[in-house]
Amino acid sequence: MGLGIRTWLERRGILLLRKSDYHADGVAVRGKNLSALSESAFDHAYHESIRLNRAGWPNGVPDVRWRAHVCCWAARNALLLEGDFVECGVNTGLLSLTVGHFLNFATLNRTFWLFDTFEGIPVERVSAEERAHAAELNAVSYFDCYDVARSNFAPFPNARLVRGVLPDSLATAQIERIAYLSIDLNNAAPEIASIERLWPKLSPGAIVVLDDYAFTDYETQHRAWNDFAASKNRMILTVPTGQGILIKADS
Ligand SMILES: C[S@@+](CC[C@H](N)C(=O)[O-])C[C@H]1O[C@@H](n2cnc3c(N)ncnc32)[C@H](O)[C@@H]1O
Repeated sequence: MGLGIRTWLERRGILLLRKSDYHADGVAVRGKNLSALSESAFDHAYHESIRLNRAGWPNGVPDVRWRAHVCCWAARNALLLEGDFVECGVNTGLLSLTVGHFLNFATLNRTFWLFDTFEGIPVERVSAEERAHAAELNAVSYFDCYDVARSNFAPFPNARLVRGVLPDSLATAQIERIAYLSIDLNNAAPEIASIERLWPKLSPGAIVVLDDYAFTDYETQHRAWNDFAASKNRMILTVPTGQGILIKADS
């Protein structure tokens, strides 16, 4: 039939997507047990988060169900550990609201620290390599969302929104121990500067979820996190969602 190799591969790709049991957020799988993604407590929490995030995503909330599942897994693990919950990079709270509703966080004797400028990436602090991308994200995705975030987290009196530029804003929070950490700033320097300060506070066994770790176009973050992990003699797990998982194994 004389098909070019590219066309042949594209057709096979399309075939795989059509036959997949799950396809969203750049992930397609077949022949896997996906019950965790529709388990009732998680499903309820995720839908509640989607509903609350509509104001932050006028063109539609992205389907990050599997990423949210990974965060809930890490957060559930954190209940076995000493410490607070922390997210660096919150926006209107898609991931952390899922976690909050999944764990019924208002009933927990812990604080959920939520750090963000709540108005986009401070481009002047971003490396030259990442600056154009950050400016584009600011233009397309971010606005002053502080009031939306405050209203979204209002059901959780133990959630504390900290508005400011990371890593400097960490100094304003009284955090002693951390059991769960999600990092999602879409630029490398403040992520690494933040983990340098937060790493000593992580409880042994705490899971750090890196939202941007294995996405194409985020190679600067990938390199920076690999260097950080190597400095702690750790290896980061690449998840098909694009997330990275880093575990604090000892004190
Ligand atoms: C991808 S969004 C976070 C999405 C969020 N995790 C969620 O679940 O919807 C990235 C966020 O990082 C914030 N951000 C980026 N660099 C920052 C910095 N240096 N200090 C504070 N916030 C920053 C932006 O304002 C933006 O809200």
